[in-house]
Amino acid sequence: MITLGIETSCDDTAVSVIENDGKILSNVLTSQEVFHRDFGGIVPEIASRKHAELIGYTIVEALKLANISLRDIDLISVTKGPGLVGSLLVGLEAAKSLSFALDKPLIGVNHLEGHIYSLFLEGAPLYKQKDIFPLLILIVSGGHTELILMENFLIYKVLGRTRDDAAGEAIDKFARFLGYGYPGGPIVEKLGLEGDPNKYEFPNLTFKGSPYEFSFSGLKTAGVYFIQNHPDVVQNDLSNLAASFENALVRILVERTVRAATDFNVKGIGVVGGVSANKRLRETFANVSPINVYFPQKALSTDNAAMIALTGYLHYTIKGETSDLTLDAISRLEL
Ligand code: KG4
Ligand code: ZN
Repeated sequence: MITLGIETSCDDTAVSVIENDGKILSNVLTSQEVFHRDFGGIVPEIASRKHAELIGYTIVEALKLANISLRDIDLISVTKGPGLVGSLLVGLEAAKSLSFALDKPLIGVNHLEGHIYSLFLEGAPLYKQKDIFPLLILIVSGGHTELILMENFLIYKVLGRTRDDAAGEAIDKFARFLGYGYPGGPIVEKLGLEGDPNKYEFPNLTFKGSPYEFSFSGLKTAGVYFIQNHPDVVQNDLSNLAASFENALVRILVERTVRAATDFNVKGIGVVGGVSANKRLRETFANVSPINVYFPQKALSTDNAAMIALTGYLHYTIKGETSDLTLDAISRLEL
């Protein structure tokens, strides 16, 4: 069975073709990074216009690389949210047009759920694995930080979310105040690669309540103040500063996640979403977690359409779900 995946929730125009439960035939991503970089973040209007410009070409490329024709597609899976409405609509309209013209089923999927299945794609550690539940999932992306107990395919219980900013948001803002563009995560990672992660102290998270919730606004503000108040450090000790900030963020993520994993006695931990590409995060988990930790392939940590294709495939084959042509964009959507 061939599934075409389309993902346009943010600033990447992505189309993928997968076969059955996760074999990747093609995975094309047309990045818009250069168009947003100078603005220090994503400009929604630019994003949707670029998606409209790039989507047709990206679909054609994905089919060509997969060596299939339109007629070979059995299912069309598309991100319905969360994300920028103008961006989502471009992918949705493309998917609906194809579904109607080819008379093939359509399914709208949740982008966050998509990130989870990046762990189950070809090349990822859980590809074709079934006996790994319960699995604790940490989603860390630009807009979300959540702990989820995954009891089986498509069965989840949200344990906690961030109360304010997402981890990705904090690191993006830190990079912006250092004078760099978007996305900030890979930039801070590179700056701090050789740095001393313990040179500067940043606050650990302090709030009462659920041990499975996060808060990153305090760390974000502390980072911004530090940059503003210590131009000498920014000038002369940037590597140690970047490593220290990154380390503070990683510590919070790892501590809370390992604690939840132990409390719920899970068989493994899966870490997904853009920030899961981070080297320090991966190494810290590997060093401190008593439970196996799984990451997607680095290139599939950030947004891609292969994960959307697999999510749609699972909903269609396990639950028989489909969407109709009234499928609409949902900017705020929880798991
Ligand atoms: O999942 P994603 O590609 O898009 C969203 O759904 O939000 O995540 C984007 C986030 C951005 O905040 C970006 O700075 C961060 O992931 N990111 C990283 C790295 N690569 C991307 N953060 C830390 N280290 C990285 N290597
Ligand atoms: Zn994402």
